Amino acid sequence: MGGKSMMDMSVLMLLLGVTVVTEAMSHDYGDALTKSILFFEGQRSGKLPSNQRMNWRKDSALRDGSDIGMDMVGGYYDAGDNVKFHFPMAFTTTLLAWSIVEFGESMGSDLEHALDALRWGTDYFLKATRRPGMVVAQVGDPISDHTCWERPEDMDTLRTTYVVNQTHPGSEVSAEIAAALAASSIAFKDKDKRYSSVLLQRASQVFDFANNYQGSYDESIGQGACPFYCDINGYHDELIWGAAWLSKATQDPKYWDYVVKNMATLGGSIFEFGWDSKQSGINIFVSPIYFDPQKVMNSSGSSFVTNADSFVCSLLPESPTKSVTYSPGGLMFKPGGCNLQHATALSFLLIVYSRYLQVANRSVHCGSVVTTPSRLVEVAKTQVDYILGSNPLGMSYMVGYGPKFPQRIHHRGSSLPSMSAFHAHIGCHDGNSYLVTKMPNRNVLVGAIVGGPDNNDQFLDSRLNASQSEPTTYINAPLVGALAFFKGGK
Ligand SMILES: *[C@@H]1O[C@H](CO)[C@@H](O)[C@H](O)[C@H]1NC(C)=O
Ligand SMILES: *[C@@H]1O[C@H](CO)[C@@H](O)[C@H](O)[C@H]1NC(C)=O
Ligand SMILES: *[C@@H]1O[C@H](CO)[C@@H](O)[C@H](O)[C@H]1NC(C)=O
Ligand SMILES: *[C@@H]1O[C@H](CO)[C@@H](O)[C@H](O)[C@H]1NC(C)=O
Repeated sequence: MGGKSMMDMSVLMLLLGVTVVTEAMSHDYGDALTKSILFFEGQRSGKLPSNQRMNWRKDSALRDGSDIGMDMVGGYYDAGDNVKFHFPMAFTTTLLAWSIVEFGESMGSDLEHALDALRWGTDYFLKATRRPGMVVAQVGDPISDHTCWERPEDMDTLRTTYVVNQTHPGSEVSAEIAAALAASSIAFKDKDKRYSSVLLQRASQVFDFANNYQGSYDESIGQGACPFYCDINGYHDELIWGAAWLSKATQDPKYWDYVVKNMATLGGSIFEFGWDSKQSGINIFVSPIYFDPQKVMNSSGSSFVTNADSFVCSLLPESPTKSVTYSPGGLMFKPGGCNLQHATALSFLLIVYSRYLQVANRSVHCGSVVTTPSRLVEVAKTQVDYILGSNPLGMSYMVGYGPKFPQRIHHRGSSLPSMSAFHAHIGCHDGNSYLVTKMPNRNVLVGAIVGGPDNNDQFLDSRLNASQSEPTTYINAPLVGALAFFKGGK
């Protein structure tokens, strides 16, 4: 739909003798929003419901948890593989909830779908935290999984269930699950009061477990978590992040005291936000407390606001303290693979902070450069538009959006034929020909955002380069919020 109206516009402009430039490309944010949410259906594990729209996917992993006598059916595959990594899955869920809390009002009929996507995560985390004194931290042996190129529906790899408990703690995964449950309780508050209070009660229970038995799951479930989603940055940021969401959801001052007290001693970079590090997310999330003249305090005395401002200054192209780089085509880069996870998460934070600043009538000073709230939105828009196709290759990095998008994404289910097209079992190594072929994927994983181009705006569209062509749930989750904001036309 976005593609078609673009074409009509280009034809019109050609007739009028106007040159069409990439930068002028306008996007259908509503269409992109719908698709960004639909993507989560393609990542579903477990028994699919009758209203499943991405219907080339079928039931899978129906015995998950049986090795420890628990029902762990459901949840999300995190990326192009079939492992359920709960640490990034919980971060995805928190960000999906935050997207709804901030921008749900602009989602229109997609709000229902966004809440369904959220509930698919929270229902699963209620299972993972059902037994007091332990949390299920992951399902699926990643080495076994990564050895094969298999449809989730065919899976015969080791579905090991990894748990953290009082003697083998995992504060990062537990506290991120607490954050996800607390954030979701806010998202569901007006829609389903009973469910919302179940989530909140569980959130505070899980937070207590994470806080009372401190330690990293890196050590407790080592070979499951590392090197895939090793918690490099430590677990103290997740504890604070969990407390911050509980503070907002409960208004209980004990959580706010926890945030303030522990933030004072938290080390690490204030410029990061992603599944591993929550720092800049915390600073921005709590900043409104300091902007409210009715309430607490004095924003010039707050390290949260100072650090949130510094974070903004680390991103803006014109800032003297910028620490990210930009490609010639204008895409934000940070070191490491899967770059679009940074572009979407950081853009989301820019938009959220811009709204908080606007309410407070504040601007940000980066050295001598004064930055208005609307400038933050402008920068976020350049990133979102780049992802949707305003880039030197004219390539949309959202599958199924626009006239040109990645055809060979690194995703097992998408590349192999659907069960409805080819029912016989395709074994572990039998799928390899679908991995290496130059043919496009068999199934369109609509709405998936891939890792994205290199820092010179080049993109291989090859399954063999996972860092460019693999989608992940935590690339999409913050973009859901950003797209809702731009759909709202602000
Ligand atoms: C605690 O967790 C560890 C690591 O997952 C596991 O080996 C151990 O059996 C668990 N202990 C109990 C009592 O469940
Ligand atoms: C706010 O905090 C700053 C820094 O701690 C202090 O210098 C200033 O006097 C405070 N302002 C008010 C109104 O309390
Ligand atoms: C917003 O801030 C500016 C500059 O600090 C000031 O001139 C203006 O009066 C403020 N507007 C409101 C509505 O407070
Ligand atoms: C794969 O993608 C990464 C990230 O964009 C890039 O640095 C690398 O050169 C690519 N690998 C190959 C073999 O092209």
